[in-house]
Amino acid sequence: MSDARNTDHKSGRVRSHIERLIDDGLQPHDKLPTERQFADELGVSRMTVRHALNALEEERRVYRVHGSGTFVAEPTIDKTIRLTSFTEDMIERGMKPSTRVVDVGTEFAGAAVGSKLSLSPAAEIARIRRVRLADGAPVCLETVHLDASRVHGLLDRELTGSLYDLLASRYGTVVSRAEQRIGATVLEPADAELLDVAAFSAALVVERRTIDQHQRPVEFTRSLYRADRYSFLIDIER
Ligand code: GLP
Repeated sequence: MSDARNTDHKSGRVRSHIERLIDDGLQPHDKLPTERQFADELGVSRMTVRHALNALEEERRVYRVHGSGTFVAEPTIDKTIRLTSFTEDMIERGMKPSTRVVDVGTEFAGAAVGSKLSLSPAAEIARIRRVRLADGAPVCLETVHLDASRVHGLLDRELTGSLYDLLASRYGTVVSRAEQRIGATVLEPADAELLDVAAFSAALVVERRTIDQHQRPVEFTRSLYRADRYSFLIDIER
């Protein structure tokens, strides 16, 4: 792993650690341990901790007071709509996630996907089509598009686990935020068969464009969710 990727990977881990700390009971305006304390506890450099805190500050999960330290921020509206992976969604619902890879390959980005990933239409992208299952039942058919130049060797890997975990652990890419569009559709016969429902059954179509910790687009994914098995829960605040 290159130095830069290694740093990203480590700071991603530090960041998850701090997020857990906040989620597990710290209140808004509680003071966080110092950079040095985190560095000693986690065995990383202060620079890595600072990196992680910068990212959390950008997302308004923490704020800094010059000379006093870093504090837990008040929850914000965009925090309540969390960016989760399929694997996390399933575990949260108490279900066991699994995956069936349908096909993978590389192709030209083309105009539509290229613009989503800020790539030229002639750039090479990696495409992964997977059926995602919950407790053994297919619920979602995902088509993921990634910039091939940033995920060398990905398509030769085992792709039955969490893509987001793989992107973080292998490529130092931490998904940070996403734009997501949710609509309604019906399933074409071939897609319906993969999802084990009758042709033209109702489905939710979710298009997600994910941005990494460096504000670069990471993935553009079109997911078809069985409407009888999936709903979206959005916390809203006034
Ligand atoms: C959801 C999103 C996809 C994303 C996937 C990652 O299904 N709709 O855009 O690729 O989560 O999940 P995992 O990390 O479990 O592979």
